[in-house]
Amino acid sequence: MRPPLPRPSGRPALVPSVLSADFFCLRKSLAPVKRLADWVQVDVMDGHFVPNLSFGPVLVPGVARACGLPVDAHLMVEEPLRFVDAFARAGASHITVHAEAAHAAAAVRRIKALGLTAGLALRPKTPARRVLPYLKVLDMVLVMTVEPGFGGQSFMPEMMPKVRTVRAAIAASGRPVWLQVDGGINAATAVEAGEAGADSFVIGSALFSSRDPAAFLRRLKRA
Ligand code: DX5
Repeated sequence: MRPPLPRPSGRPALVPSVLSADFFCLRKSLAPVKRLADWVQVDVMDGHFVPNLSFGPVLVPGVARACGLPVDAHLMVEEPLRFVDAFARAGASHITVHAEAAHAAAAVRRIKALGLTAGLALRPKTPARRVLPYLKVLDMVLVMTVEPGFGGQSFMPEMMPKVRTVRAAIAASGRPVWLQVDGGINAATAVEAGEAGADSFVIGSALFSSRDPAAFLRRLKRA
């Protein structure tokens, strides 16, 4: 079972990142949010592209079962083409690879060929123009609002001009492409990123450190 990601509709999509959830009680961690979230994200780190090491495709089925939502795999790995098929087989609905990674274009093509939706992510120092040639095939652009590798970092407001540039390019393309932000998202920074043009919000530590994650998501939706 691989539910597709919803298509962009102008309504913001809230995407819990399981990196900050309790891996040993995923069902308990995700239960309060599954009716308020649009999909979930697994942050895959290889210890090379980013200094942290997280997990592989083995986590995807458990996350999908724990919440019944589409799983978005964010591959922060040097060679994403090596892992695309494994995450597709594991049940991911969407895969985002980094524009700075090896053979990123080939990885996007492979993701699409497997029938999943595909995203391209930009590290803070990578300019928006790196994704523009791919907008005709992409389903998502992810503008990182922290340096990838760890949850709990502070939002980088200096990424907002890049969000505005990508939003304008998506509008000009006329294609249904999500503009996702990831890193340091809370009620205040979500509003700032939303005003700049983001419509998908990855939330990790602010959500799972909250005393009442469901109330946190409801507040975010209102914001
Ligand atoms: C960075 C990770 C984090 C995570 C969200 O590599 O991608 O951004 O998903 O973490 P918070 O919301 O804690 O910044």
